[in-house]
Amino acid sequence: MENTEIREFRVNYDKYGKLVALEENDNIPFEIKRVYYIYEVDENVRRGFHSHKHLQQVLICVHGSVKILLKTPQEEKIITLDDPKQGLYIGPNIWREMYDFTDGAVLLVLASEHYDVNDYIRDYMEYERHYKKGDN
Ligand code: TYD
Repeated sequence: MENTEIREFRVNYDKYGKLVALEENDNIPFEIKRVYYIYEVDENVRRGFHSHKHLQQVLICVHGSVKILLKTPQEEKIITLDDPKQGLYIGPNIWREMYDFTDGAVLLVLASEHYDVNDYIRDYMEYERHYKKGDN
């Protein structure tokens, strides 16, 4: 899907365990201005329900698993994140919903901008209008 990509990170592993390093403008394709994580989400909760006008993000499920619905007016895709060495890149103008968090799941998000409420579109109809008149 446009503006989305699964990225596989290199794992450093030895008999002591595994380590993944994330670096801006390297395996993370933007400057990392913000990091947040979502956890202790009940299994029946669905969240997200928004798109961003400019923000780029990489989502990594560092523990457990979570499903991500990605949607544009043309297509729809469901990604299961269940591997700490995998990141889901989501660029601008993609509607997303997150659900089916397993018990103990932790979703780590790296973001290209500081938190800005004005970058959010939280109404799907408005998202469709913005998408259609936008640069897609
Ligand atoms: P919200 O955007 O509803 O989460 P989701 O991405 O699952 O839709 O964010 C939940 C709350 O956290 C909301 O009150 C806004 C706040 N928040 C911040 O203060 N900073 C942040 O970087 C983010 C992503 C959210």
